[in-house]
This record gives sequence, structure tokens and C-alpha cells, in this order.
Amino acid sequence: MDIIVIKGGRQLNGTVATSGAKNAALPLLFSSLLAQGEHVFDNVPRLNDIDSTELLLNHLNCETQRNGHQLKVNVNRPQSLVAPYDIVRKMRASILCLGPLIARYGEAKVSLPGGCAIGSRPINLHIEPLRQLGAEIDIENGYVMARANRLVGDRIVFDFATVGGTENIMMAASLARGTTIMENVAKEPEIVDLARCLRSMGAKIQGEGSSVITIEGVDELQPARHRVIPDRIEAGTLLLAGAITGGDVKVTNCVPKDFDALINKLIDCGFAVECGDDWVRVKPCDRWVAVDVDTAPHPGFPTDLQAQFMALMTQADGTSVITERIFENRFMHVQELARMGANITPKSQVSVVRGEKGGLSAAPVMATDLRASASLILAALATDGETTVNRIYHLDRGYEKLEEKLSSLGACIERRAN
Ligand code: EPZ
Repeated sequence: MDIIVIKGGRQLNGTVATSGAKNAALPLLFSSLLAQGEHVFDNVPRLNDIDSTELLLNHLNCETQRNGHQLKVNVNRPQSLVAPYDIVRKMRASILCLGPLIARYGEAKVSLPGGCAIGSRPINLHIEPLRQLGAEIDIENGYVMARANRLVGDRIVFDFATVGGTENIMMAASLARGTTIMENVAKEPEIVDLARCLRSMGAKIQGEGSSVITIEGVDELQPARHRVIPDRIEAGTLLLAGAITGGDVKVTNCVPKDFDALINKLIDCGFAVECGDDWVRVKPCDRWVAVDVDTAPHPGFPTDLQAQFMALMTQADGTSVITERIFENRFMHVQELARMGANITPKSQVSVVRGEKGGLSAAPVMATDLRASASLILAALATDGETTVNRIYHLDRGYEKLEEKLSSLGACIERRAN
């Protein structure tokens, strides 16, 4: 298993471009199952999660062809409508094939995704709305067994603004008979990107980005030609790398308004942040104040930047109260940051971070999940010694060549086979 070694204490300066968004690309690739033929997706990041998605699409009789950041998906009628456990367990987002398969073929057998380090990750908010649209669904032997003649539109009110649940129902409702009104839906930019792609395929969909999405089902959809939006979580992570090292970093090929919750928090801390149409720049700052953060559905502070922001707060003047309101166990990075000397008291959904500039020391640490990996790397950049981050297969699920991007900004960081 590879490790990443960081020699910290250096200011990061310069310009770095963001890759395509993992959490947009995954639902987009699964939406191709709604229409046979050749789909073309551009700006697709090169990530392990994308590889896992290709594996599942290939299993469902789709040919995929990679050419740099372009991914072609040639969708044929699947011989098997099964998404097996040994593929789904590698990537929970595989559950996003359920809606498209049941809508297009009237049948699907998808392994339950199971939980992960950050939470139990149930899928009741995917299953119940599909039942409301007329699917017969049983859970047997660890699989979701779904059948439907043809889905029929209905009014769906989500208990929680679930991102994956919203995506699954958007895709399913696109081919249902009649109109589906979805209320209390997720408003993330990745939802908006999926809606744009579905519309380009012929779906009649409106309201994306608001709390209510209305879909008038059609009989057939056409193959997509779509460019994936930039990854706002990677953009925020890169900006935080500049901030925590007191550097001057400009992140390009991004959409500032997609992560303005982070930008506003950086400004509250005392950082000077400039924004253009497709770039954000953080200016040098050697002291910043601690601020509180509560994670929330978009446009609130993204849970996927909580761990990275916590690393910044370990170096702040004062105390930061960080409340994780989305996942029940997303403080796995706390004990690793504490091994580097951070003063953090985790209490269920809240972590209290008592900042101290220069209070971190290099140490061997272990990544526990995707965003925790990034948090540990940011913390390592702020120490003076050499930190080794183990189990970085977590990182490779969601960041394309992060060590190369940080190195281009002046970081002393390298990947080593271990
Ligand atoms: C998506 O996960 C993202 N993943 C996550 O990013 C992100 O953290 C999350 O949305 C929240 O923004 C992808 O897009 C592939 P949810 P998802 O359904 O769809 C509960 C990363 O680091 N819930 O909005 O699984 C759930 O337990 C990953 O890139 C139910 O109770 O998130 C959680 O507490 C991590 N029942 C909350 O809702 C359900 O049926 C948010 O889940 C579904 C969810």
C-alpha cells in the first residue's frame, strides 16, 4: 500500500487547477443507463471511484472507453440486471444504478451498499420513494430486489435533503409515466449538474437547485454529451492548503459560488480572499482567528470540507466548535490530528478545537476515510517535520494526483510504495 510523506513548514504559493467533480461524475455516469447508445462525458476525474463505476457499468454490458479526462459509455441492453456485492462494496455510490435500472428495464438486483467509516449510510430515502413510484422492492440476502411494470409519477416529500436519494429519484422519475413532484430535495451543485445532463438527454425536469424538483416523465431518453462541473470540495481543499501554510494560492477552473460557505468562513477567520468568475485566491496571512462551523446541506457548510477545515482550526487563535450535522461518525480524523499534537475534544456530534499556531508536530498517521486523508495532509503541511500518511488508498478514491498539485505549489510531498 502506498504512503505519502510530507516535509512541512513551507509556504504554498502559485496557481493550481481543479479537476472534475467526483460527486457529479458518479451520478452522471449511472444516468447513462437510462438511454442505450454512446454517451460522452468530458472533464471526468481519474479516480478509483470512477474506475469502480466503470467496472459496474461494464458488468451491466456497457463498453467504456477512457481517453484522458473523457469517458465514453456505450450502453447496451444488460444481460444481467444485477449489481453484485463484490463491486458495490468497493463504492457505496453504486446504489445510484438502482433508479436507472428499475426505470429503464423494470427490474434490478442491487447489493446493499453497507456502511462505511463515517456512518451507517442507510438507503431508506432511496427505497421508500421508489416504492411510492410503484416499484415492488424486497430486501433479501443483502440485496435490493426491485421490480416495476412502469413507474408512475407521484408527489415525493423527502424526510431529509439526501443527495443520493434525490439523484436516484430524479433518474427514475425521468422515465416514469406522468409527473413527479419532489420536495425537500438536495440543492447541491452536483444535483444541478445531473439535471442539466438529464435535460440534454430529453428529460423534462425543472426546479433543480431549489427545494422542489418537478419531472414530467418521458417514454425514452437519448445518449448524453456532457461536461462534468469542477470539484468544489477539491477546490476548497486546495484553498485550505494555501491558507494553512500562510501562502498565496489561486485555485482556477472552479465555481466560487459552489463553495462560498467555505470562502465566507475563511474571510471570518481574517483571510483576504479574492474571487473571479472561475477562480478563488487566498492571500498570505500569518495569524487567523478560530470560528465555529456547523455542517449542513448545500448551501450550508459542506460536510466534505469539515475535516479539512478542522486542520486549519488547529492553527487558529482561540477555540473553534465544529458540529457535524450530516454524518454520525465523521470525526475519525480527530484522533490522528491529536497524535500530531492538536488539542481537540470530540463529543458525539461536536468537536471543540483549541487552536495553537505551531502546535502540531510531525508524526506517522493513518487515513481512515477520504476527507480525513486530506485533513491529515493539510495538517502535515503546517508542521516543521516529516509526516507519513498511511492507507492513502482512501485519498485516491476522491482526489486526482493531489500530491502533484500540492508539489506544484511548493510543497515537499511525495508518494512512496510501502
Ligand atoms: C453524498 O453522499 C456524497 N457522495 C458524500 O460525499 C457527501 O458527504 C454527502 O452526499 C452529503 O453531502 C456522493 O455524492 C457520491 P446523503 P450520500 O444521502 O448521497 C442520511 C465524499 O467525501 N441518509 O445526502 O450518501 C445519511 O446517513 C462523500 O465525497 C439516510 O438516513 O449522502 C447521512 O446521515 C462522503 N437515509 C445523511 O442522510 C438515506 O436513504 C446524508 O446522506 C440516505 C441518507
